[in-house]
Amino acid sequence: MCGIVGYAGTGTAVAGGPDASERPLEVALAGLKRLEYRGYDSAGVALVGPGRPEAAFAKKSGKLDNLVAEIAAHPLPAATAAIGHTRWATHGGPTDTNAHPHLADGDRLAVIHNGIIENYSELRDSLTTDGVTFLSDTDTEVAAQLLAREYRAAGDLATAMAATARQLTGTFTLLAVHADDPQTVVGARHDSPLVVGLGAGENFLGSDVAAFVEHTKEALELGQDQIVTITPDAVTVTDFDGAPAEGKRFTVDWDAAAAEKGGFDSFMDKEIHDQPHAVADTLLGRTDSSGRIILDDLRIDESVLRSVNKIIVIACGTAAYAGHVAKYAIEHWCRIPVEVELAHEFRYRDPIVDERTLVVAISQSGETMDTLMAVRHAREQGAKVLAIVNTNGSTIPRESDAVLYTHAGPEIAVASTKAFLAQITAAYILGLYLAQLRGNKFPDEVAQLFDELRDMSRKVQTVIERGEYVRATARSMQAADKVLFLGRHVGYPVAMEGALKLKELAYIHAEGFAAGELKHGPIALIDEGQPVFVVVPSPRGRDQLHSKVVSNIQEIRARGARTLVIAEDGDDAVRQYADEIFWIPQAPSLLQPLLAVVPLQIFAMALAGAKGLDVDQPRNLAKSVTVE
Ligand code: M6R
Repeated sequence: MCGIVGYAGTGTAVAGGPDASERPLEVALAGLKRLEYRGYDSAGVALVGPGRPEAAFAKKSGKLDNLVAEIAAHPLPAATAAIGHTRWATHGGPTDTNAHPHLADGDRLAVIHNGIIENYSELRDSLTTDGVTFLSDTDTEVAAQLLAREYRAAGDLATAMAATARQLTGTFTLLAVHADDPQTVVGARHDSPLVVGLGAGENFLGSDVAAFVEHTKEALELGQDQIVTITPDAVTVTDFDGAPAEGKRFTVDWDAAAAEKGGFDSFMDKEIHDQPHAVADTLLGRTDSSGRIILDDLRIDESVLRSVNKIIVIACGTAAYAGHVAKYAIEHWCRIPVEVELAHEFRYRDPIVDERTLVVAISQSGETMDTLMAVRHAREQGAKVLAIVNTNGSTIPRESDAVLYTHAGPEIAVASTKAFLAQITAAYILGLYLAQLRGNKFPDEVAQLFDELRDMSRKVQTVIERGEYVRATARSMQAADKVLFLGRHVGYPVAMEGALKLKELAYIHAEGFAAGELKHGPIALIDEGQPVFVVVPSPRGRDQLHSKVVSNIQEIRARGARTLVIAEDGDDAVRQYADEIFWIPQAPSLLQPLLAVVPLQIFAMALAGAKGLDVDQPRNLAKSVTVE
């Protein structure tokens, strides 16, 4: 939700471009390009430089390209520090005026913001009484004017920022530059992301490391309620009372190329093709020389994990569907009850949680506010929290007791694909680890399941290679206005994820149902030609699941449905009931989601592409939802 970038350099020491004094703007725009997935309602930059009495700025509604065109038409001056913002609108529509930065103090101070300032109305009244006139409808402009008032009192931007932060409620990352101090950017962080990039003769700020990874991989993770000041040669961190504080250094383990399209038409297409690596890399280094599973960064005592009597998975969107897959696997392997709950529902329903509850928080970004709030609530109740997260340096792992990082690499497309496969993989690792620790499985059983898991990367690759038939089918279905998805057992969350992909990418009404639920109501939706995807379990699995789903296919076909079936190679029993069939390699039943979801991702992407829609940045969405 909003991308933020900040830069401070000397303007001369860095051989970064044709003219080093152009580097602040270059860095800001390149950072915004990489952060645009966080929000794309408008974009803006502000620059300060020696001898310039005011901050220079440009801002434009719409995608970043509009801002770039605006700057090309009206060039900005050379500078030594810059801030940049890409917006997902909350207060005030996506107009030029509401775009960030917001200026104050006679245009000498410029401010950008991610989050929501909840007490902005009272503050606005107080500032209006002081004679301030507001130009925009945003909460951010209130923060800018408040900062200007504090700056006039303190004469120092960091002190003023701390005083401002103490008066704000809600969530915020604020960055500011002032014409009086043209080599400095000051930031404040409260429940909203901000990381520091450490360069030589220059330093960076970003909502996440994608903002600066092409310039440096050395980074500093900030804590909550901290003020950070960057200059070309120094980074200073304090708390909101001005007391010195420290960030945690880390090195980014992927390079800028990982965040490029790499020859694909879209980030989503590239990320679908990254999936075999996402699975394989998430499994890397998880076993010791004797084949026992080990978990990195595990700070929860083994005796505590042995005594756990309930697991609650909290997550949102796609990550929650990964949680549903986790439930089936962990309950089966470990015999521990697992609940899965949307984080925003968990937080506000007074859940029953105690010291013997293990809460597993799943998040690609590690910044989803609903999930973060649920993590805090669970810990307040005494539960241990284990985070499954993709983004290093993000908030959720920092506030959890343990972390299991997925190694999917940066996911830029707003619709999650490779992070989903990596989350499911991590959940399997966790399940097997707990089964090993608690003695639910013999070591050789765990080792065999782990080997089967390792083999899934190759099988995911096979599904991707069969993608053209899925694409062709999708192209023929542009007129569809409603699509249903059915699955049972682990196929049910796959069906829900397939429906979510189609909704968010192709703007088609889609719903995923448990196939057994069909006859309890949803079957009334079926009429002539209604497309229905069905995820068919392995015919080699137990519990007659396969034959039950085949019966469900017959029931909907008898009522006119067009059946689009995902089935395992060699499943001859289902062939005769499928109008279209998308084959996936044979795999153990519990692991099948890693394969079955891939055709659904490709289908949604291809259908959206055929309709001329932007698959990387669907309307109304943002990659990282950092407001509640
Ligand atoms: O970063 P997170 O995994 O916490 O994000 C959770 C959801 O917002 C996310 O999965 C969302 O549903 C995606 N747009 C799905 O494609």
